[in-house]
Amino acid sequence: MSRIFSGIQPSGELHIGNYLGAVKNWTQLQHEFESIFCIVDYHAITQQYDPERLRVRRREMAVSLLSAGIDPNVASLFVQSQVPEHTELAWFLNTITPLGELERQTQFKEKSARQESVTAGLLNYPVLQAADILLYRADLVPVGEDQVQHLELSRVVSRRWNAMFARATGKTTEDGAEEREEFFPEPKPLLTPMRRIMGLDGQAKMSKSMNNTIGLLEPPESIWAKLRPAVTDPKRIRKTDPGTPEVCNIFHLHKAFSSPETVEHVAVQCSTAGWGCIDCKKVLAESMETELVPIRRRAVELAAYPKAVDDALAAGADRCRRLARETIDVVRERMGF
Ligand code: AMP
Ligand code: TRP
Repeated sequence: MSRIFSGIQPSGELHIGNYLGAVKNWTQLQHEFESIFCIVDYHAITQQYDPERLRVRRREMAVSLLSAGIDPNVASLFVQSQVPEHTELAWFLNTITPLGELERQTQFKEKSARQESVTAGLLNYPVLQAADILLYRADLVPVGEDQVQHLELSRVVSRRWNAMFARATGKTTEDGAEEREEFFPEPKPLLTPMRRIMGLDGQAKMSKSMNNTIGLLEPPESIWAKLRPAVTDPKRIRKTDPGTPEVCNIFHLHKAFSSPETVEHVAVQCSTAGWGCIDCKKVLAESMETELVPIRRRAVELAAYPKAVDDALAAGADRCRRLARETIDVVRERMGF
């Protein structure tokens, strides 16, 4: 059975961009694949952070993921720093990663442009990510579109390691080179139709750092306070102007949360100016409630029973430590240790 691995940073609350782009997909895939989900706290410290808040957020992220539907009896959920082999493998992989590949990463360029002093940790972020995935020799990585370039790098690193250190099979390849075993698979992204959710400002992708998010556990009043002024079709100025659903961010959220019949109805009402944008947003708020109410309820239950969270994370870490150890033993041996 193929194995999937994915990670999420505990650098803020889980928002509906994470949920629709990745986490919702995880909750479905866990029943089809052997699944490992990781709260990547070592990644979260590559940007400014507060140690006390990190402690809180790690926990909050675990609660959010379990509430969203990750089932610890089906999938492994754990905290990255509980399995030290992640950083050990990252070091090994650092030694075979071309610097140019790292400097070319869009996320590095964007994040480093916003900072006065850029750390080596930020540059090497994608190497740690490659280590996360390769440590479990995962084949598939369910993520949002923003992670596709990082995964390309994971494939480069995987190929390189295999070419340099994997065992020779005794055969030759078509071009006459020595064939090597594929110790590390080449991990492929698994995207959803909701691979890129825009923020409520309609300007940039929904992201913790842009302050344009809706939290998965946010109360309905607070969601409405954000939806109400959210950007719609910029050409629709008066209620009587017909709108173009396809250019409206609210319409895209309808596609994620509303039934196909409602989506169709919304499209007609918008393009014929039957509804104003506020009417449309009210319907969206209702659809969101239908999906989010059970998630919020589970979060309340878990808050009252913290041992369930501890147990889930401990079981996940135990299992992943064993798998990680198997890979690291081979890597150490092949690399001369
Ligand atoms: P992060 O919060 O950066 O750790 O991202 C966790 C997961 O959510 C990754 O798979 C991202 O690709 C995905 N993700 C984050 N923001 C968005 C967004 N605005 N739209 C779709 N997916 C997203
Ligand atoms: N970089 C990813 C993000 O910001 C998080 C991440 C870390 C990850 N390690 C991973 C995602 C391994 C998938 C696989 O979203």
